[in-house]
Amino acid sequence: MTEAILEVTNLRKHYTSTRGLFSRGSAPVKAVDDVSFSIAPGEVLGLVGESGSGKSTVGRTVLRLHEPTSGTIRFGGEDITKAPAGRMRELRREMQIVFQDPFGSLNPRSRVSEIIGEALDLLGSLPRDQKRDRVVDLLQQVGLSGDHLRRFPHEFSGGQRQRLGIARALAVRPKLIVADEPVAALDVSIQAQIMNLLVDLQREIGVAMLFISHDLGLVEFIADRVMVMYLGRIVEVAPARDIYANPRHPYTKALLSAAPVADPRLAKRRERILLQGELPSPANPPSGCTFRTRCPFALPECAGERPAYRKVADQHFHACIRDDIAGGEEVREVMALAT
Ligand SMILES: Nc1ncnc2c1ncn2[C@@H]1O[C@H](COP(=O)(O)OP(=O)(O)OP(=O)(O)O)[C@@H](O)[C@H]1O
Ligand SMILES: [Mg+2]
Repeated sequence: MTEAILEVTNLRKHYTSTRGLFSRGSAPVKAVDDVSFSIAPGEVLGLVGESGSGKSTVGRTVLRLHEPTSGTIRFGGEDITKAPAGRMRELRREMQIVFQDPFGSLNPRSRVSEIIGEALDLLGSLPRDQKRDRVVDLLQQVGLSGDHLRRFPHEFSGGQRQRLGIARALAVRPKLIVADEPVAALDVSIQAQIMNLLVDLQREIGVAMLFISHDLGLVEFIADRVMVMYLGRIVEVAPARDIYANPRHPYTKALLSAAPVADPRLAKRRERILLQGELPSPANPPSGCTFRTRCPFALPECAGERPAYRKVADQHFHACIRDDIAGGEEVREVMALAT
């Protein structure tokens, strides 16, 4: 097995908010609550789940943009969980993030040449003309051109700005990109263009990616494996093909039954499970299986222990104790969930 580029073990991120009127003495928000996974070099791992399930918190915490509460993050074999700021600055070159709204992350007073140029500087200084050539290369790679060099971010459309955000992320030749809802803010027609660009670039340069989205269709389009998150936990992980054809966890089934299906045979086979009610508060999650309060198959036992992971096929795991519905053999080694 090749060594993972990213290996996350028992990651927790609990926010103890001091903001807000009612926050004093309130319980911490368990945004990420014991999450383990790994990403192989060049692999695209999709992360899906409802709003508030903790997807962005996972993405930001693995890059140490948020400090983890506990757990271990290994990047390229190195334990970076407590790496000092200086080391993290060096590592930032190798791990990049593409945000939903590139506007917020692009300096409005910098021209394109400076925005991409600054990213290039992280690799070491280049002579002026070489740097300019490299910036133009990068712009062309994402479908922009040298004519855009002197423009400011506000002079671009949303789709073009996202192209710029991608060019900036690629400038440093990263080994891992966290793409957090990179097309959610764009018109549907533009979404397809940016998704195609991401898929092409990812294949071309072989960068590993954590692709975060609440849209299963988008994830299916790009991901090798898919991880489904519910209330701070991973409830199922599987190769993309498997998870769409053969979902096991009731939550995955519910998410899929809400998504449109192109293939009528698949649509017929697919169980319809309607998700009822709201996501419970991550400050006060249900005991045992956190999905049990919305699960049509819940048994009294589901309120007991937190469910262990079960393996149903190669690389396919879930956390549901209903043998008759989800099946599989219990696994004890949590890193079995790895690649
Ligand atoms: N800085 C913060 N302080 C306190 N709570 C936070 C903070 N950031 C996120 N949360 C809470 O953590 C939980 C998970 O949030 P997160 O943004 O990770 O979810 P998400 O799955 O990315 O949702 P969305 O699909 O809406 O982007 C939510 O309950 C959210 O309110
Ligand atoms: Mg988010």
